[in-house]
Amino acid sequence: MRRDLERVLLTKEEIQSRVAQLRAQLARDYDGKDPVFLGVLKGAVPFFKDLTSEIPIRCSYDFIYASSYGAGVQSSGQVHLLKDASMELRGRHVVVVEDILDTGYTLDFLQKHLLQKKPASLRFCILLDKPKGRKVAFKADYVGFTIPNEFVVGYGLDYNEAYRNLPYVGVLKSEIYSK
Ligand code: PRP
Repeated sequence: MRRDLERVLLTKEEIQSRVAQLRAQLARDYDGKDPVFLGVLKGAVPFFKDLTSEIPIRCSYDFIYASSYGAGVQSSGQVHLLKDASMELRGRHVVVVEDILDTGYTLDFLQKHLLQKKPASLRFCILLDKPKGRKVAFKADYVGFTIPNEFVVGYGLDYNEAYRNLPYVGVLKSEIYSK
């Protein structure tokens, strides 16, 4: 799979060390608040697991499934909610955990959707921010890395459902998706 990549953008070690910093920051900010970490399926799974396992505070896990990309490399702009959160979020401190903020369509949609549930607070923790891809304004509260405007895969991020299992993030060769 490595040969399908133009280059590795973030190594496993770089990701793990930044995720540990984010975990420590969340532990400080949410100590005593019993937050709900709400992972966005499917891309956020590795980040969610590494971010929240062993966080030394009382917390809950829940998942929501939003999808907008279909099979291509460009967002359709239409976000589909395939699974809603299953917990009661009213009055809870909710931290949405997401792999990437690109056009902003997904998190803009989720913010509006989740605010209707009247959480005590709502924040967004993302691993990758691609500000050049933005179509709607959105600013996340916790950001792992700011990345250039290239199509990246790995560590949860896919192209046609492949590459999610890579432990690093890489830039996909354009010949792979222009075939
Ligand atoms: C990807 C990614 C984010 C979203 C970000 O999800 O996991 O949820 O796109 O892009 P945006 O800012 O342009 O909306 P996708 O729809 O591909 O579903 P997936 O998580 O199942 O891969």
